[in-house]
Amino acid sequence: MHDSSFGFSAPASLTHANTFRLNSRCWGLATPTTESALWQALNSVPARHRGVVILGGGSNVLLPEYLDALVIQPKIGGIRCIAEQGTDRLIEVGAGVVWDELVRVSLAQGWFGLENLSLIPGSVGACPVQNIGAYGVEVAERIVRIRAVNRQANSSHQAWREFRPEECSFGYRESRFKPADNPWVISSVTFRLSTIPRLVLDYGDVREAAGPVPTPQSVSQAIRRIRSSKLPDPANIPNVGSFFKNPIVSAEFAANVKAQHPGLPTYPQRNGTVKLAAGWLIEQCGWKGKAIGPVAMYARQALVMVNTGQAGLVDVIQLTQAIQLSVKQRFGVMLEREPVMVSGPMV
Ligand code: EPU
Repeated sequence: MHDSSFGFSAPASLTHANTFRLNSRCWGLATPTTESALWQALNSVPARHRGVVILGGGSNVLLPEYLDALVIQPKIGGIRCIAEQGTDRLIEVGAGVVWDELVRVSLAQGWFGLENLSLIPGSVGACPVQNIGAYGVEVAERIVRIRAVNRQANSSHQAWREFRPEECSFGYRESRFKPADNPWVISSVTFRLSTIPRLVLDYGDVREAAGPVPTPQSVSQAIRRIRSSKLPDPANIPNVGSFFKNPIVSAEFAANVKAQHPGLPTYPQRNGTVKLAAGWLIEQCGWKGKAIGPVAMYARQALVMVNTGQAGLVDVIQLTQAIQLSVKQRFGVMLEREPVMVSGPMV
């Protein structure tokens, strides 16, 4: 079955639509390229009958073997400068644009601010969902507006809304769009970028790697090099980036752990809490490079789980729990999974 109005096919495989390459199939898949096609897909008979699962670039999800749902992957394109405010540029971008494509285009146009987020996999529509962040920048800091449609609305007229960042509950790898019962489907994101570079160089070895006279381009290239040296390219080694969040604990708890384990990297937060390096905790427990069946923790970055064979969700859960247990026993910290587990459709 195929319907071109919103790029519909059924049944469909999702194995190549998730960067962990988990074997997964779904009842049907829609790939709308416009807002009206997205609305149509959300209101189609299969969507109303079976429920819907929204998928972006599939780089932060764990999919089950079968989803009895209409999976909708918004493919709305477009990167447009919609306003010039002094040296600021407001850039409206369709949800279906590949994130790193936006990073490259913005740099080439001289719109700066996304360079630290170079080479992150995924789509623009997904970037606010988990508030992607790397090397001292979180995307929430660059977002001015998110346009989204409420999949539970009865008429198109009431369905569309724009969110300001303060309405998005942005946090560390969190937003109002991440919980499974969130009804909003993002169609575009508007960023505030600048023609004047304001470089963020204080994370790890970025300053050193960006050269003696750093520019947005040299920062982007340095970050591309750093990421490629420790993070596996999902095109070659299937993965979903960091598999656990860095745990945030009280200052007192962090001081106690550090007293027993002086090597522990700790990052004090503005609100007095302390972030711990989950990769370090996992490595200390002996999991770096270690496999259980077809899944392993990557040998160059212990925070990243990789699929080395034909892994299924059961294998992933098994390794997740084994790591959580040993980190909890040794350090008293419960690691929280970062990617979203898609368990079923939203009706
Ligand atoms: N570390 C180890 N062993 C490891 C990995 C890390 O000891 O195997 C130590 C490092 O030596 C360092 C500290 O842990 O002292 C932090 O490591 P790193 O700078 O590599 O960053 P991370 O905390 O492991 C986070 C993000 C990444 C992001 C990098 C850079 C999370 C969950 N992860 O990783 O984001 O690229 O910082 O900003 O916050 C992602 O979310 O998918 C992701 C890749």
